[in-house]
Amino acid sequence: MSLPKRVVLVGPMGAGKSTIGRMLAKELGYRFLDSDRIIEERCGANIPWIFDVEGEDGFRLRETAMLDELSREVNTVLATGGGAVMRQENHPILKRDATVIYLKTSIEQQVERTRKDRNRPLLQNDDPEAVLRKLFSIRDPLYSSLADIIMYTDRKSPRLVVRQLVNRLNPKTPRHKRQIRKEGRNHV
Ligand code: S3P
Repeated sequence: MSLPKRVVLVGPMGAGKSTIGRMLAKELGYRFLDSDRIIEERCGANIPWIFDVEGEDGFRLRETAMLDELSREVNTVLATGGGAVMRQENHPILKRDATVIYLKTSIEQQVERTRKDRNRPLLQNDDPEAVLRKLFSIRDPLYSSLADIIMYTDRKSPRLVVRQLVNRLNPKTPRHKRQIRKEGRNHV
């Protein structure tokens, strides 16, 4: 079994896509790409500003274009925004040559992890928990149907999630191969 060309992380806000994605990329010897951060870099503006000026529709157009571009890069781990599954046309883009991982997270964890965040426009209101619940009911079936792997992240450290993912993806990652070679040499 060999590693997939690309790993794509999907899941709700607060699932840990960026943190886990960065660590997983390092572990696999892959490049880490974060769709939201690259959109911000290209625009020279943050996501709240883009929502403010162009509306959510404007952001979604940028997101589709960005996903399309990034999904052509191989040996990468791509962290997507929580709403990336909302447009049907993004689905084949997300699946392109990729193993899609759904980081599944309870509403309680999502609330906890996004509590102090000011960079997520959809949660800047009186009842962010209600928004997260509504989004979950719509998006969970989409994340699940796209996913090759569903990984629960509640009550797990990012390190543990990454270790479990590496094992699911391929028990023989570059690091493990190096380790095996080293051990092999020592035994000669
Ligand atoms: C969104 C999630 C955000 C970001 C934007 C919209 C969503 O990304 O793309 O604020 O619709 O769920 P994260 O999931 O990384 O927070």
